[in-house]
Amino acid sequence: MARLDVVETFHGLFFPGHLHTLDSLQLALKFPFRDTDIVIVSYPKSGTTWMQEIVTLISSRGDPQMSQSVPNWTRAPWLEHHYFTAVLEASPTTPRVITTHLPHHLLGPALQGSKAKVIYVSRNPKDVVVSFYHFHKMANFLPEAGSFSEFLNRFLEGTLHYGCWFDHIKGWTSQKAALNNLLHISYEEMSMDIRGAIKRVSSYLQSPLLEDEVNNCVKHCSFSSMKDNKMANYMLVDEAIMDHNKGSFMRKGKIGDWKNMFTEELNQYFERVFESKMKDSTLEFAWDEKREEELMNKSH
Ligand code: A3P
Repeated sequence: MARLDVVETFHGLFFPGHLHTLDSLQLALKFPFRDTDIVIVSYPKSGTTWMQEIVTLISSRGDPQMSQSVPNWTRAPWLEHHYFTAVLEASPTTPRVITTHLPHHLLGPALQGSKAKVIYVSRNPKDVVVSFYHFHKMANFLPEAGSFSEFLNRFLEGTLHYGCWFDHIKGWTSQKAALNNLLHISYEEMSMDIRGAIKRVSSYLQSPLLEDEVNNCVKHCSFSSMKDNKMANYMLVDEAIMDHNKGSFMRKGKIGDWKNMFTEELNQYFERVFESKMKDSTLEFAWDEKREEELMNKSH
């Protein structure tokens, strides 16, 4: 299934036809979740693969055997991808770990009444858009990125593939979504305190770990370990689909990289749109400027 230039339009959102069909998208909305399922939800480039690694490692009590021998898309397949049903049936993972980028207004009804454990991963949208921009350059199943300012415009308008970041985060952190007893964790929290993040996730999953097991999780989900792990770094994906000469999936793994791409003018524009779109939200973010400075100093 190549379909590299195909775009599926579903409920007004665009999805790459290489990974999605109308059938697979429709099936996702009717998926019968089990109470034992673990569901990782994110807008693209928010730290999805990192969370897949963390959940796999927690389920294996820090043993990297599974995370280093089974590709992330097999051990935590995307619900809306065309290969999902086949992969899930053959999945070696118990409990089942399912990943999705779908927004809450589409997937919420399928989760209603379920006790599936939902982990929502968010990231500073400025870093998301920069990461997504670089990813568009290497992923041949995504449209041309164009200039960064054009790309940023499309991000803020919500017309990129996978839809609008603002709708995504507001939907998944809304009161309605909270009924699912969801765990919201940010990329910044993971960067600042990976040990604390692993403990938060393991306690949410009711899989408490011994200190040594936490240590092993920390070691095997570090940026450098994952960059070397073929089962997480996407190097198994054919050149025709992801051009590894044009960039790496495991690119920088830093917070605050947006500062290398945003001009002062773009930043002001972003701030204006952010303020207006988020004015009805009470979310507190771990990425305000002062906090970010602290995080950057720590991670260098
Ligand atoms: P960058 O492009 O900023 O480097 P997703 O998995 O949602 O597509 O997100 C990909 C982003 O997460 C990339 O960001 C990637 O480098 C980063 N990432 C993946 N694993 C990471 C890790 N262990 N530590 C820090 N960042 C990680």
